[in-house]
Amino acid sequence: MSPRRRVQSSPTTAKHVPEVTSEELGKFLARELHDTVAQTLATMLLELESFRIEQHGRLGALRQIDLLEQSTRKALADLRALLVELRLRRQHEEDVISLIRRGMLERKGRGTSVEFELQVAREWPERMSAKTAIELHLIVSEAIDNAVHHGGARKVQVAMCLEPGSDMAVVTITDDGTGIDARHSADRPGFGIVGMQERAGLLGGQVSLAAAPGGRGTRVQVTVPAPAVGAPKPGG
Ligand SMILES: Nc1ncnc2c1ncn2[C@@H]1O[C@H](COP(=O)(O)OP(=O)(O)O)[C@@H](O)[C@H]1O
Ligand SMILES: [Mg+2]
Repeated sequence: MSPRRRVQSSPTTAKHVPEVTSEELGKFLARELHDTVAQTLATMLLELESFRIEQHGRLGALRQIDLLEQSTRKALADLRALLVELRLRRQHEEDVISLIRRGMLERKGRGTSVEFELQVAREWPERMSAKTAIELHLIVSEAIDNAVHHGGARKVQVAMCLEPGSDMAVVTITDDGTGIDARHSADRPGFGIVGMQERAGLLGGQVSLAAAPGGRGTRVQVTVPAPAVGAPKPGG
């Protein structure tokens, strides 16, 4: 069965909002705040300075000016610290491939004789959001545990690719175990399968379970949107 495109309904408002990464948003806010609020505060400080000179000898007014100047300086310092933070902000990313590979190595390290295989398609995005990566990793991890513990699998294959021409990630976990009892799991899915479905659902995707091709074992297929993040844009 080839992966099929699934049409997800999404809130109408979300459709028209251009995708911006947290890094891009941070830089935008830093630029805007610098050119507007920070400039105004700096100008206010200069104006206060000349006002102070005009108030020479008027102690009450000078005290008021000192207070105004202190609070303006504080606002400017806070804002500058915020600008630095916004500038340094990065879209938090995780490398899902490393997470999955590490999971396999850890299982090997605990002495399992199960063979693991990881196939990653060329077009798999180099960087994706931490949320997507971590949820995908946890779904794969549960599918591997099920294959080993329920299916008694000797081999588990994980294949990761993108649907042609889209940013839908398709992760397929195939085992050679006893196979899942479709009726049993449809009637009474355990928390593991429900959790996998919820995780995929949170990302706007889904999970399907079926008999593996070839008549033995189980195949779990996860389809989630996985737009690459932070890729350098042409010209900018
Ligand atoms: N890969 C698999 N091979 C065989 N049976 C499976 C597999 N995955 C799930 N199952 C069956 O589906 C049931 C529900 O799995 P799951 O929701 O993960 O709950 P749990 O692992 O807590 O039992 C399992 O108890 C098992 O009977
Ligand atoms: Mg389970």
